[in-house]
Amino acid sequence: MNKADVLLGLQWGDEGKGKVVDVLTPSYDMICRFQGGPNAGHTLEFNGIKHVLNTIPSGIFHKHCTNVIGNGVVIDPVILKREIDALIKMGVDIKKQLLVSKRAHLILPTHRLLDAASEASKGKEKIGSTLKGIGPTYMDKTGRNGLRVGDILSTNFKEKYNSLVEKHKQLLAFHNFEYNLGELEPAWFQAIDELKQLTLIDSEYYINQALKAGKKVLAEGAQGSMLDIDFGTYPFVTSSNTMTAGCCTGLGISPRSVGNVIGIFKAYCTRVGSGPFPTELNDETGETMRKIGNEYGSTTGRARRCGWLDLPALKYAIMINGVSELTMMKADVMDDFDTIKVCTHYLINGEKTEMLPFDVINADITPVYKEIKGWKQNITAATNLPEELLSYISFIEENTGVPISIVSVGPDRKQTIVLKKQVA
Ligand code: GDP
Ligand code: IMO
Ligand code: MG
Repeated sequence: MNKADVLLGLQWGDEGKGKVVDVLTPSYDMICRFQGGPNAGHTLEFNGIKHVLNTIPSGIFHKHCTNVIGNGVVIDPVILKREIDALIKMGVDIKKQLLVSKRAHLILPTHRLLDAASEASKGKEKIGSTLKGIGPTYMDKTGRNGLRVGDILSTNFKEKYNSLVEKHKQLLAFHNFEYNLGELEPAWFQAIDELKQLTLIDSEYYINQALKAGKKVLAEGAQGSMLDIDFGTYPFVTSSNTMTAGCCTGLGISPRSVGNVIGIFKAYCTRVGSGPFPTELNDETGETMRKIGNEYGSTTGRARRCGWLDLPALKYAIMINGVSELTMMKADVMDDFDTIKVCTHYLINGEKTEMLPFDVINADITPVYKEIKGWKQNITAATNLPEELLSYISFIEENTGVPISIVSVGPDRKQTIVLKKQVA
């Protein structure tokens, strides 16, 4: 029986997961999303085309590859339909290449309204949610009220829908939130009709049988470990387990079926939305990173907060995920920097520590930095990396104990340097 490899983000999301999944897909038969929903925006670039995927796995542009939306994902049918329409125009055979789990939960229009109402009620304490209805949908899932993709095939689907919407209306009234549901429902039901036309499957059987038959499977994470519902900077997190363990519950594979764990991180750090970010730079250097790295959200267009690489947070993510190899993204964004700083420790109440505190949102954290000499050259077309970058890489490898197998030097598929042979 084959094992499924996992690829996930180790920071606060937007590390470049979409790009790397696309680069690695030639080595896999199946790419499976296991959590999150359209809060994700995964960007792929090839042949001068830039494409952003929200719900659909990033292997979709490779004809040989089957793409599965797993049971752990939450689906907004309207957004999925939009994604599908764009892919059909590009010649993708959706019926054949995309499979959707019947157990995946549906995002209703009222979930989106509830997300907005909840954020509005929090005022300046707001999470900075993407307002896609993610939190309320996962709440209904764990509250055992949710609607699943398989439900759309049942004759009483409309009744189930109405009964859940009634509950939501009461909550919206509690929030004193104004809305016009009638404007949202026609498009949603039209998208549900389209969803019925897709290949809906019992994905846990499908994936386990594929592994048994010797197929190569890659599980694609969304968001990042620091946004994990259990181990992220709670409450400024998303509502799913973004970590390796999430691929077991989100696909229905056992922990013994997990193989290589590929952890992705940027050569620096970004975060979009509210919440703690110890190495954040609220100065010109942060602004330069944002400008050079084009750090604006793929889904929401919001400016991303920027800062230096945070090794204590990275090591924490490596620990909880069992990362076996690392991929460093966006190294080219550091091309013009004379020196690059890396946070090696935190100072909390005068004490030096490498541990993330439980109360990270209230802790007074001062990062302790090591300075690394910059390479001061354009590496976007490089095939060999400059000495200074290689020593930055070695420094991270020594500190984390995990090899860096890929370095990304630009957004295009081709701007990828493989340092060590992939396990896949
Ligand atoms: P994801 O959510 O992890 O898939 O990442 P996003 O797509 O949200 O954000 C990553 C952004 O960086 C996208 O705009 C990518 O096109 C871009 N990108 C990916 N890798 C590189 C790289 O090595 N260098 C540069 N300059 N941009 C990159
Ligand atoms: P990808 O997969 C970056 C952030 C939001 C907010 C918090 C909660 O592209 O890396 P939610 O809508 O999930 O309730 O928002 O999580 N967030 C992301 N940040 N990349 C993402 O996905 C994100 N998905 C959610 O900004 O702070
Ligand atoms: Mg993204």
